[in-house]
Amino acid sequence: MKLNLATRLFAAVLSAAVVVAVAMGVGAHVNLNRDFLGYLNEQSVGRLDLAVPSVTAGYRQQGSWDFLRERPDLWYRLLRPAPDDNRVPLSARPPASATPAELTGASRRFTLLDAERRRIVGFASPAENAVERAIVVDGVTVGWLVLTPFESVSYGAEKRFADAQARTGWVVGGGAVLLAAAVALWASRRLLRPVRQVADATHRLAAGDHATRVPQNDKDDEIGRLARDFNQLALTLQRNEAMRREFMADVSHELRTPLGVLHGELEALEDGVRQLDATALRSLKAEVATLHKLVDDLYELSLADVGALSYRKSALDLREIIDDTAGAFGERLRSSGLALQLELPPGPLPAFGDARRLRQLFANLLENSCRYTDAGGALRLKARREGRQVLIDLHDSAPGVHPDQLPRLFERFFRVEASRSRASGGAGLGLSICQRIVQAHEGRIDARPSPLGGLWLRVELPALG
Ligand SMILES: Nc1ncnc2c1ncn2[C@@H]1O[C@H](COP(=O)(O)OP(=O)(O)OP(=O)(O)O)[C@@H](O)[C@H]1O
Ligand SMILES: [Mg+2]
Repeated sequence: MKLNLATRLFAAVLSAAVVVAVAMGVGAHVNLNRDFLGYLNEQSVGRLDLAVPSVTAGYRQQGSWDFLRERPDLWYRLLRPAPDDNRVPLSARPPASATPAELTGASRRFTLLDAERRRIVGFASPAENAVERAIVVDGVTVGWLVLTPFESVSYGAEKRFADAQARTGWVVGGGAVLLAAAVALWASRRLLRPVRQVADATHRLAAGDHATRVPQNDKDDEIGRLARDFNQLALTLQRNEAMRREFMADVSHELRTPLGVLHGELEALEDGVRQLDATALRSLKAEVATLHKLVDDLYELSLADVGALSYRKSALDLREIIDDTAGAFGERLRSSGLALQLELPPGPLPAFGDARRLRQLFANLLENSCRYTDAGGALRLKARREGRQVLIDLHDSAPGVHPDQLPRLFERFFRVEASRSRASGGAGLGLSICQRIVQAHEGRIDARPSPLGGLWLRVELPALG
């Protein structure tokens, strides 16, 4: 059987209410039964004290207990409160008022003993723990009035009490059901409505409607947070979807351009517009190399995305890697008319990483500096250890990148000036790959404006030892 949340809530509240009602009922029953007995006995002692003057007056009037031995039926009449006037005959005594003590039937448990403690009339078997009052006439004890306490609540009283309890139980039980229904209804209206809204919206989101949102309230409770998190999730999905589309468009655009050039050149060769000579071949090879690099970079990024990019890490010296990579750029720098200032510590910079990937990282950064720095400019590459980190700073001279665009440098296919970069052939993937490599080494990379007038890229990698 499938129960919805409101029904389950109703069942839970109802069971809780019923359990509390039953527990209270049982508790009240036990307590009252015990206290009720104490109350009965207390009332009875009061009734006993009240009866002492009446019984004493009866003895004084009759001169002995014989009248009771002859007519035991006068006993209950005798127990009635004595009128002030002693001469009023027993038979004319008014009936006892309906005091609680009278209602409890206490007088049925009174026994009258004579001076020798022999039973004259009343309760047949006075108990050991009976409460006693002496009947004293003119200073002589002429008898004893004895009360046998209640041991249990009499059947009648118990029945009355049980009935009252059952009645209360029904009222409380009915109230509990009504209360549970009201609470469940309120809860399902007030609390579950936003949950239902989120459930419906999730359904729409799963069906591909990424623009779906749920109304958000300002409350910082679980439901408020759920709605906020849902909206955040939908927004992220929407952004990811937009990024995916953009990425696909970028990839196809990037592939189409060199393919178009290749196609054009091949056609020109076929039509005899161009000669198939060494220059034409070099141009064709350059276009193929661009395509090759692009496909390689995309492949590498997609591997990094699925976490399948393999890293063979070992203990290495970052100083050596940086020195080697910078050395390999000697010719490239000279041809670009750039001067490199290398500042490395005298000792090694131990780290744990993949030497091939780290060379790729620094080569990418140096390649960018060569490409995007005006001829006659300068580069400064500095590495040092600071605490548990190795800091590598690469500065270059103008042109720089506008501060607004700095955070976007690491996005795929992002180029500051598409036209300028196109001339140098970059696709805008290099820094994304750099960022992946740094992240795989538990490091950080960020870009800032350099005091030299160009870009300052800082790489932080964890140091070893
Ligand atoms: N040192 C730099 N100085 C100025 N601009 C830079 C520098 N490095 C990168 N850029 C800008 O950032 C953009 C992104 O760089 P990135 O290395 O990601 O891509 P790319 O160099 O254009 O192409 P790829 O590296 O994929 O061949 C570049 O197009 C360039 O506009
Ligand atoms: Mg680059």
